[in-house]
Amino acid sequence: MTVATKKVSAASARAHTRKHTPSSSSSGTFKKLSLVLLVASAALTYQAIQPPPPRICGSPNGPPIASTRIKLKDGRHLAYLESGVPKEQAKHKIIFIHGFDSCRYDAMQISSQVLEEFGIYYLSFDRPGYGESDPHPKKSAKSIAFDIEELADQLGLGPKFYVVGFSMGGEIVWSCLKYIPHRLAGAALLAPVANYWWDGFPSNLSKEAYNQQLPQDKWAVGVAHYAPWLTYWWNTRKWFPGSSVIAVRFDIFSDEDKKILPKLAARGPYMAQIRQQGEFESLHRDMMVGFGSWDFSPMNLTNPFPNNEGSIHLWHGARDLIVPVSLSRYICEKLPWVHYHELPTAGHMFPAADGMADVIVKELLTKD
Ligand SMILES: *[C@@H]1O[C@H](CO)[C@@H](O)[C@H](O)[C@H]1NC(C)=O
Repeated sequence: MTVATKKVSAASARAHTRKHTPSSSSSGTFKKLSLVLLVASAALTYQAIQPPPPRICGSPNGPPIASTRIKLKDGRHLAYLESGVPKEQAKHKIIFIHGFDSCRYDAMQISSQVLEEFGIYYLSFDRPGYGESDPHPKKSAKSIAFDIEELADQLGLGPKFYVVGFSMGGEIVWSCLKYIPHRLAGAALLAPVANYWWDGFPSNLSKEAYNQQLPQDKWAVGVAHYAPWLTYWWNTRKWFPGSSVIAVRFDIFSDEDKKILPKLAARGPYMAQIRQQGEFESLHRDMMVGFGSWDFSPMNLTNPFPNNEGSIHLWHGARDLIVPVSLSRYICEKLPWVHYHELPTAGHMFPAADGMADVIVKELLTKD
């Protein structure tokens, strides 16, 4: 039964009570009956919208732990993956922040020549709730920045490191610029997701960008923002479409993206790990935070490098059909200290295009 029909049946039960009141005792019975119906339908509704508990890695019925992990101060674990040159010898340390429905293996592929030439230690990690990192029920736009700082400190990365984030990971780079700017050597945002409800967007602009989404995504994103408690239910019902990004519909990819898609076949061996702890703590909570109410807006940030101690870059494809370019364009107009690179023919997946990761890293490490 749907929520709507449950409400109707409870209401008609009440109406029924009013119409037929032959005697006070049967009226009492009807009242009791309608109360029982009301409570039962509320309980059923509540049960239907509750996500199941997550399957925590390493718990008795949970997935096994195969990665290296750190234990954060609050007891949660973060799984990570190191590559490039050993950190003791590295000239630069880069932390990659993966996007939606992804994990530590989805870090953009920097070539071994560039890793060697620039002396890069490259660190990737599973964001909370993905892969082998424990879920974080209190996850927020703020908490993730401090998770990253703690990861860097526990692994001994030293005072400064770079952050590079793709898509929803790019959105998180704004959190790093807000909460841990003093720890950053530089930052790159790749096709970053923008939150339509951030302060500072002209309403016609955010409305236009919002309306560029498929109708099902307008709904999914709207639910994540206005009724986050309904997000699990909304995205798991089978009789209407939830987020198209969760369902991976082909028509959300541009022509250039479609050329890159065959490369994603390499994700096969670890795809099953990504959501293994449950879709709620991975995908749905990601949407609830990404499109929730933020306590700051990127458009109000100040330049963390007033003396050019580092640089901040944002790349966005003009033909991105998943994350509208218009919002990135606008933010970069407001923040002249962000180097904006608009790629005229690229879609959303450009960081996976041949050679692009090297271009991004060279720009990040050499520009001031
Ligand atoms: C929004 O309105 C402003 C001012 O009226 C206008 O300059 C701008 O082009 C509009 N933007 C969009 C995306 O419609």
